Amino acid sequence: MIRKLVIPAAGMGTRMSPFTEVLPKEMLPILDKPVIHYVVSEAYDAGIDDILVVTRSPKTSIINYFTKDVIDSIKGKSGRNLSISFKIADDTKGLGDSIARSEEFVGSDSFLVMLADTFYRNPGGVSVTSQLIDAYSKEKEPLILVESVPPERIKAYGIIAGERLSDNLWVVKDAVEKPEPEKAPSNLAITGSYIFTPEIFDFIKKTKPGRNNEIQITDAIRELCPKSRMLAYKYKGVRYDIGTIDLWIRAFLENAKQDRRFAEYFNR
Ligand code: G1P
Repeated sequence: MIRKLVIPAAGMGTRMSPFTEVLPKEMLPILDKPVIHYVVSEAYDAGIDDILVVTRSPKTSIINYFTKDVIDSIKGKSGRNLSISFKIADDTKGLGDSIARSEEFVGSDSFLVMLADTFYRNPGGVSVTSQLIDAYSKEKEPLILVESVPPERIKAYGIIAGERLSDNLWVVKDAVEKPEPEKAPSNLAITGSYIFTPEIFDFIKKTKPGRNNEIQITDAIRELCPKSRMLAYKYKGVRYDIGTIDLWIRAFLENAKQDRRFAEYFNR
């Protein structure tokens, strides 16, 4: 049911400067592949076949990376199509604005948004992106992926206020971008995967610059949720956020330790 994915990758990568002057954070390697590869591959395996990457012109390495060989390797023997297109947005005013640049690509379809500085693993189980798409097929309402975070991580994320429907499902009542822990409405953090209907674009257009003077997708959700039902889904699995150097090191090492190719190195 969901075939389109938008990857907003037009940020400046300020938190990870100076290397982000020349290398987009989405291109940081986890073992032998950049993070964005894992994001595209998991989305493709969950049924996505049409992807738009919104990026900025100094970040051409993302565009160069997705050669025919790489796309073929992601497709494997599935026999399904995979189209990846790019939109340059040098003047983007934040995450919400980058997502807004996909309006033409999205058309009238519900669509998936995934940030490419986060990827998931659920060994032996259903992939996290498939869980989100399955939940959408069942609920038929827009969904945000969330996880519980400890108090000290709250101010790194968008945080929702929710009314619990079941073990892993909430109705979103509010969303606040990077609150102080004592002011946060809960500990449920937005992890960076969303399923929207095109209605979100009207709300982004009405959203004024918020935190960091940027147009935040969390603020658009805040405006949308009292008017249109939106759900939050808590996934099963492990998430690797590579948005800061310490988190990237953790992601790299944990993935290396689980990979047989490097067993000898870690058992030394
Ligand atoms: C963005 C969003 C935030 C979300 C986070 C997930 O923040 O603005 O709401 O919780 O991604 O990683 P960023 O990490 O780009 O600062």
